[in-house]
Amino acid sequence: MARISHAQFRNVSIVTLLVGVARATYHVHLYHICNASPYFKRAFKGSRDQAANKYSIELVDDDADTVERFVSWLYSKTYTLPPFYTEEETHERFNQLAKLNVFADKYNIPALSNDTIDRLWDPWHLYLDNILSSRKIFCPRISLVAYVYEHTSPDSEFRKTLVDWYTWEIPLKWYDDSRTRDELGEVSRDFAVDLVMALAKRLADPERPSPFALPKKECDEDRRGDCEDDEAVDLTSCPENWE
Ligand SMILES: *[C@@H]1O[C@H](CO)[C@@H](O)[C@H](O)[C@H]1NC(C)=O
Repeated sequence: MARISHAQFRNVSIVTLLVGVARATYHVHLYHICNASPYFKRAFKGSRDQAANKYSIELVDDDADTVERFVSWLYSKTYTLPPFYTEEETHERFNQLAKLNVFADKYNIPALSNDTIDRLWDPWHLYLDNILSSRKIFCPRISLVAYVYEHTSPDSEFRKTLVDWYTWEIPLKWYDDSRTRDELGEVSRDFAVDLVMALAKRLADPERPSPFALPKKECDEDRRGDCEDDEAVDLTSCPENWE
């Protein structure tokens, strides 16, 4: 195993992240943060000659929980999230993932952005494990959709995922609810447009499987649920009792 000499060790550059108005402090290796994000790479470029390899950056608009998850992801490719046993906990989990996704979008970290979308499905995996139990799955709230539309770019995969969710998994009676019109009016117009286009595509091609349906192969491997014929099995619908 290669040994690190003293001189090399001294040259390992550490970055200090000062987060939020309270300036919560996190330390990461310059190498890791620059590798993960072109934004940070640019930010620290040229400051190489700084005394004693000291680098720091203020992230005033970010929050400590989110940055903590980012740092954890930098080193271990994973991070902890709130549990999701109750409806409120599940929504809190979605909120935290949305915040982390916005962070990844802002600092140009596509791998982390993708990961937050994968983690949205955690509760669904749990649901598959408990298919016979009465555990319910909840759709992301419209307030979360509003937040994501406000803070991400039009090509955001997180946006697309939310649109798919509202296109395929929301019980249609949601559209009959008297509050729905007001709720939709509060979100960005872009969401309404994306939703109409996605609903139109769904109508135009009723055979198209839901993007949330388990592919047959995966279903066989998992041996969860029945995979009959060639039909994709959709075990993931939101509960009918939308409330
Ligand atoms: C993120 O996901 C998109 C869409 O699935 C894919 O094209 C892209 O290669 C992924 N990027 C990374 C860095 O994983």
